[in-house]
Amino acid sequence: MSLVLDPAAQDLLFREARTANTFTDEPVTDEQVQAIYDLVKYGPTSMNQSPLRVVLVRSPEARERLAPHLAEGNRAKTVTAPLVAILAADNEFHEELPQLFPHFPQAKDLFAERPVREGSAALNAALQAAYFIIGVRAAGLAAGPMTGADFEGIRKEFLDGDHTPLMVVNIGRPGPDAWFPRSPRLSYEQVVTTV
Ligand SMILES: Cc1cc2nc3c(=O)[nH]c(=O)nc-3n(C[C@H](O)[C@H](O)[C@H](O)COP(=O)(O)O)c2cc1C
Repeated sequence: MSLVLDPAAQDLLFREARTANTFTDEPVTDEQVQAIYDLVKYGPTSMNQSPLRVVLVRSPEARERLAPHLAEGNRAKTVTAPLVAILAADNEFHEELPQLFPHFPQAKDLFAERPVREGSAALNAALQAAYFIIGVRAAGLAAGPMTGADFEGIRKEFLDGDHTPLMVVNIGRPGPDAWFPRSPRLSYEQVVTTV
């Protein structure tokens, strides 16, 4: 009763959405990914930073280049997923702050030091990655995010510039036996305190 979002949308985004480990061979189009990005780009970040960078790994040849950098248990599902996205943080995101946060022209200067920039890029790109996963669900698709990977190897193989890979996400329609039984979640009482 407290939520205003349509219950079917609540199920689509959260209650019935699962992390998929197998996929059908129905393709995921660039148009679908663009629609997902054009929705989730409105998710909030600190100072409207937009450090998320996405590399779509589509061709069989590119998947084969990615596979050796994944933990063994993550390989088969990634090679066969309709689409794979590498989500990364751009550590030079501050260059875009004059465009993204124009009412505070000094914003870029706050990130002149590399460690400050790196921390902010990691936090805000992780937020954007979470929005991206929910956006995949909003498109009626399932996501399979993975951090079981050699990210230094992925960075060298796939990323230009000063980008730090955060996770690899398989995207598609869930196939047979796509998920394990749902694991429990912490209750409200375990998580929330009021002072
Ligand atoms: C950031 C992140 C990293 C993950 N890494 C892996 C992984 O390397 N391999 C894997 O099989 N599952 C991975 N998972 C899947 C989680 O185990 C799964 O999302 C979680 O157990 C919830 O499952 P459910 O959505 O089906 O309830 C990862 C999930 C996230 C969000």
